Amino acid sequence: MQVRGACALITGGGSGLGEGTARRLLSAGAKVALLDLPQSRGDAVAEELGVDCHFVAADVTDEAQVESAVEGAAAAMGGLHVLVNAAGIAPASRVVNRAGEVFPLDLFRVVLDVNLVGTFDVTRRAARIMGGNDPNDDGEKGVVVNVASIAAFEGQIGQAAYSASKGGVAAMTLPLARDLASLGIRVNCIAPGIMDTPMIGGMPEAVRESLLEVHVFPKRLGKASDFAALAQHLVENALINGAVVRLDAAARMGPR
Ligand SMILES: NC(=O)c1ccc[n+]([C@@H]2O[C@H](COP(=O)([O-])OP(=O)(O)OC[C@H]3O[C@@H](n4cnc5c(N)ncnc54)[C@H](O)[C@@H]3O)[C@@H](O)[C@H]2O)c1
Repeated sequence: MQVRGACALITGGGSGLGEGTARRLLSAGAKVALLDLPQSRGDAVAEELGVDCHFVAADVTDEAQVESAVEGAAAAMGGLHVLVNAAGIAPASRVVNRAGEVFPLDLFRVVLDVNLVGTFDVTRRAARIMGGNDPNDDGEKGVVVNVASIAAFEGQIGQAAYSASKGGVAAMTLPLARDLASLGIRVNCIAPGIMDTPMIGGMPEAVRESLLEVHVFPKRLGKASDFAALAQHLVENALINGAVVRLDAAARMGPR
């Protein structure tokens, strides 16, 4: 699907990978809506990016907010063709820590709710609108790009909840693609390695340096622009469907 003239909804668009994707799709001629938390930078980013960029405040764990935000985004842009599901959280905790405390079940549920259920909820609402679009020459009416993580495959110590959520996102990509094929919607997933965004920006320098070792080549952290370039390609290449693509410089995570 051509990016020029497309209307793209990006969850988590107020920061990091989502924000980078918004910038790239806008400069390629799309209209963009950023769905993010009310207290996020989404509003400020949309203001900076200009008239073709809109902000819709919503928590992806709130069904009613998601429904009205997806409809509001489509109304503001005048359509909906692309969805990038980049909203996510990554709190880590041991199952049983040194003090003998167990992983809080509430935290486990929240991670699943934001990363997995939130992705599914936004996708189902967006897909209903995309299904009403006129098809292009390939029969495409919409494209969804999910965001997992290499932690879906090699989760580290402390990542039980995060890996479970991202494993779910990776695993549901193929059934979503099969399910939505009848509506002319493709669904793919990016599994990033270690990306230099605010999500890891708060970590101590020593931890950031150890993370850098994980990338085999090139030996640098991923950038939002690396992610955005792949997201754009997944939108444009009609033959890629149901795929989970690692964006990780050959990284394979160890236990810690
Ligand atoms: N940074 C990395 O190394 C890395 C690696 C692999 C996967 N990822 C995934 O990429 C995605 C983007 O991460 P990032 O690094 O850009 O992080 P980020 O923290 O910079 O951005 C995440 C955005 O999601 C929003 N968000 C969080 N909870 C939300 C909710 N309930 N409803 C709506 N919006 C919500 C935040 O407000 C924020 O703007 C996440 O799903 C993350 O798990 C990141």
